[in-house]
Amino acid sequence: MRTLISTEELRTGIAGLARRLEAHYQGQPLTIVALLNGSLLFLADLVRELRIPVEYDTLRVSAYRGEATTAGEVRVEVGQVPAVRGRHLLLLDDILDTGATLQAVGQLALGWGALSVRTAVLLWKPDRTRAGFRPDDYVRQIPDVFVVGYGLDYNLQYRQLPQIVELDLSAAEAGQGRSEEHTSELQSRVDI
Ligand code: IMP
Ligand code: MG
Repeated sequence: MRTLISTEELRTGIAGLARRLEAHYQGQPLTIVALLNGSLLFLADLVRELRIPVEYDTLRVSAYRGEATTAGEVRVEVGQVPAVRGRHLLLLDDILDTGATLQAVGQLALGWGALSVRTAVLLWKPDRTRAGFRPDDYVRQIPDVFVVGYGLDYNLQYRQLPQIVELDLSAAEAGQGRSEEHTSELQSRVDI
């Protein structure tokens, strides 16, 4: 396992995204809606970096990739529709992989009465994304590797890490059953 993006690189990358969003939404009513749980830390750091007024909300979506559906198809369930009527909506997610989740939520969001709907992600794996789909903005592109930390999880673990770490899945599986111990061990190793 190794650190792919350090805490400092995340900070400067998110500041860069904030400057672009300020330029794009200057003088406009903006609401950021973050998809839970992965983009919670990203949301918290991004809004504190923004120097324009912004409202934010969160959205819990359930994505099913069941046998009954076509590969990559995602069914999205939204509990409470965010109040974005007459406002510009920016959907925020931790990572864009195939794009199925964000594309489905984006389609749904078109019916919420927002002035515009755009997407921004922390990480983008362009090699894995379905043809023709891309985020409107992103902090970093990464290769096709499995990453955790800064909100991203493997079986609900590692979200707390302050940096993005490339995870060796076989090592992670060996650590199952002693997850807290393993997380702190990982934390001390990636801090070096
Ligand atoms: P998509 O719908 O295929 O774009 O998948 C997006 C979701 O897959 C993300 O919100 C993550 O929950 C998960 N995901 C994709 N790649 C990774 C990864 O490398 N680490 C952790 N979660 C990932
Ligand atoms: Mg996720």
